[in-house]
Amino acid sequence: MVISIPKSGYYVAALSNQKEEIILQHSPVVRDAIFEKNVELITSSTGKKRLVEFNVATPGDLIISQKLLLRTMQNIIRKKGVGLLRYYPTNGSEELKNNIIKHAAGYQTRINPQELLITDGALQALHIALSAVCDTGDVVAVESPCIFSILEVIRVLNLKVIEVPVDLMNGFDVDFLKKACLKSKIKAVVITPNFHNPTGILLSDEIKKELVKVIQQHDIAVIENDIYGDLNFSGKRPSTLRSYDESSLVITYASYAKTLAPGIRLGWLSTGRFLKRAEQIKFSMGSTVSPIYQETVNRLLNTNSYDRHIRAFKMQLAKNAYLTINLLSAHFPKGTIVVPPLGGYNIWVKLPDRVDMDHFYNQCDQIGIKFTPGYTFSFSTMFANNFRIVFADKYSSLKIKALELVGEAISY
Ligand SMILES: Cc1ncc(COP(=O)(O)O)c(C=O)c1O
Repeated sequence: MVISIPKSGYYVAALSNQKEEIILQHSPVVRDAIFEKNVELITSSTGKKRLVEFNVATPGDLIISQKLLLRTMQNIIRKKGVGLLRYYPTNGSEELKNNIIKHAAGYQTRINPQELLITDGALQALHIALSAVCDTGDVVAVESPCIFSILEVIRVLNLKVIEVPVDLMNGFDVDFLKKACLKSKIKAVVITPNFHNPTGILLSDEIKKELVKVIQQHDIAVIENDIYGDLNFSGKRPSTLRSYDESSLVITYASYAKTLAPGIRLGWLSTGRFLKRAEQIKFSMGSTVSPIYQETVNRLLNTNSYDRHIRAFKMQLAKNAYLTINLLSAHFPKGTIVVPPLGGYNIWVKLPDRVDMDHFYNQCDQIGIKFTPGYTFSFSTMFANNFRIVFADKYSSLKIKALELVGEAISY
């Protein structure tokens, strides 16, 4: 119930009156990748002054290390000059890849340099991985809830899905996946084991090991997203599924959109046994990722600027997370369920069934506050009373006031 944030203090981590939510266990069903409701793909904030935005998973300008990034880019331009205007190696700069491999070794994740591709962000890495593993109409298992951008890639690739519940205590339900494997030919599992978006849940090492065993038994590829892995609020940097896999069935990807800035379009993809096809698909998407971003990230990893930045950055995120939980606890209706995140950017909230969600979103519009509606996180209608809060920006009195007002507007 209490968590310590180094150099910051102790915070109430969970809502005292919160009873555990029983997730209804539905049996595994294969669905077409069709959103029940029209989903507006929002990835950038409107920047409207009076609008309080908790709906975009991007670091706010006040929290991004602007000076560090812009100064590093200026140094790179001065140093590298015309070299930045040429094509770079198709799979990415060797020096950068070695630094990514060195960084991953710090959390027991072995990456083979031959299998590593530099990409134009995490979503592109996912697109390449799914295209390398699956053919049209194949079935993939995804987390439920799952971020809409990932669901959108699956929809665009004309794949079918089995939604695997994310239990609010333990995360991805491996037993449910086992049942699904007996019913359907699953070609891949798409998962964010560390600080899942939107629940913020961290999969335990035991469950990670169990999941790797299941996929090896059924010869299923796992495509793991580790975009939030460096953002643990306390304790050690979590491992990845790749840390437990010798079969090269685990494909791991990430980017610097959440740890540095989304404008730094740079990600990586460790392809496992799917290198050949992944390379061809990557090449067909454009052979070079922007040299300036490759050199900038390489410089930050090469010096300890990246690690130093991450230490301060995640402390700020942790403070924001616990301030958000306390504001929800103080101002939202009794029976509101909140999953306290252990890292990352996101908090998953469920309002009591008695709350009329149309009325809630009307109040949000009037007050000028935006959350990400639950229905965008699934191809089913399961999360109508849920919404996601992104806490990756500094709090202002305007933001605190808006959260208080909307909570009280539905507390009857
Ligand atoms: C879980 C997850 N994966 C991928 C992305 C997109 O990452 P990128 O901007 O590097 O493509 C997001 C952005 O919201 C995300 O939350």
